[in-house]
Amino acid sequence: MSKKTLIINGSPRLHGDTATLITELKKHLTGEVVEISAYRSKIAPCVDCRGCWKTAKCVVKDDMSLIYNDDFDNVVLASPVYYMTLPGPVLSLMSRFQPQHAAMFFLNIPLNLRPKKGGLILTAGGKGNADGAAHHIRVFFRQMGATGFEEHAVKSLHTDDLPAAQDTKALEDVKKLAEWLNEE
Ligand SMILES: Cc1cc2nc3c(=O)[nH]c(=O)nc-3n(C[C@H](O)[C@H](O)[C@H](O)COP(=O)(O)O)c2cc1C
Repeated sequence: MSKKTLIINGSPRLHGDTATLITELKKHLTGEVVEISAYRSKIAPCVDCRGCWKTAKCVVKDDMSLIYNDDFDNVVLASPVYYMTLPGPVLSLMSRFQPQHAAMFFLNIPLNLRPKKGGLILTAGGKGNADGAAHHIRVFFRQMGATGFEEHAVKSLHTDDLPAAQDTKALEDVKKLAEWLNEE
C-alpha cells in the first residue's frame, strides 16, 4: 500500500542545503508527500493558554491541524542546525505538542499515536557541534510517535566546505532513507 509521508522543513532557504536533500528525498519517495515549512506555514507558537489542560486538544486553529490529524505513515524532520540546536521556528512548531503533554501528564489519556517511521535530515555548517540538537530531535520524534530516525539519519554537517549538493554520502543516504520509508 502506498505510503503518506510528512516532511517538516526547518530551513528558511528555498534552495539551501536542507532543500537540496529534501528534493532528493522526494525524487525517491513513492506515495503522497506533504511538506510543511516551519518558516512559511501558518503555525503559531503555543501561548500556554492551558485550554488543552482540560480537553487535550489545542484551541488554536491553523496549519498545525495537519500534524494533529496524525494520518501519516512516515515523518521526516529536515533541518539545519542553528546555534547547536534546531532553528527557532522548528522549536516554535514543537511547542504545539503541548496538548500531547497535557494528555499524558495532566489528564492521563493515552496518546494512541499512529506508529510511524521517522526520518532525520540534518545540515550544519561545521563550525559548531550538532550534538546540542539531539535532545529536541528525540522529543520531536517521540511526540510524533515515530521511530527509526537514529539508524536512518542523513547528516551533511560541513556545508560551509562541502555543500549538501556535493555531499555524495549524504545524497546516497537520502536515497537509502527513501527506500526504507517506502518499504512495507
Ligand atoms: C543563525 C545561524 C546559526 C547557525 N548555527 C550553526 C551551528 O551552531 N553549528 C553549525 O555547524 N552550523 C550553524 N549554522 C550553519 C547552518 O547550519 C548551515 O549553513 C546549514 O547548511 C544551512 O542549511 P540550509 O541551507 O538548509 O538553511 C548556522 C547558521 C545560521 C544562519
